[in-house]
Amino acid sequence: MSDSTTGTAGPIKVLFVCLGNICRSPTAEAVFSKQVQDAGLADRLLTDSAGTGDWHLGHAPDQRARAAAATRGYALDHLRARQVSAEDFLHFDYILAMDNANLEDLRALDPGHGRARLMRFLDVLEEGGPGEVPDPYYGGEDGFGAVLDLVERASQRWLERLRSEL
Ligand code: 4NP
Repeated sequence: MSDSTTGTAGPIKVLFVCLGNICRSPTAEAVFSKQVQDAGLADRLLTDSAGTGDWHLGHAPDQRARAAAATRGYALDHLRARQVSAEDFLHFDYILAMDNANLEDLRALDPGHGRARLMRFLDVLEEGGPGEVPDPYYGGEDGFGAVLDLVERASQRWLERLRSEL
């Protein structure tokens, strides 16, 4: 897409999606947007996150996710959960699912005439990689560190990939 006034391509919009939008996808949103900011691309790569479920609408991210992220310098406190909608397929360029169940739910929601490319967030990692970000909600504290490890690695790859599309 072109901007008719400047002739430059518009920003790329990325939506991260998990089940509750209180653990994995807000973590991905915060990590990726910090990397984008550090790269000086905050006005070129726009981010958001949402959940396929509606249990936590309007809630801040899980306290455990906030605490784990804070130890690595990421702030999640300002984020609030929302549910993904069919309209998101018209607005975002990429919709990135945290696991296979999220991907299936998103496929069912896809109106089919949107602009969004629907993929798993970890598809950008090496072949034979983990594929899914494990749901840490019912597990222990260490699950949140494992989520951060995966998210930091995949976000770096996404930044490299999307920067080349700008
Ligand atoms: P998330 O984790 O999908 O990474 O935000 C979950 C949060 C809440 C629930 C499940 C997973 N829940 O069942 O309420």
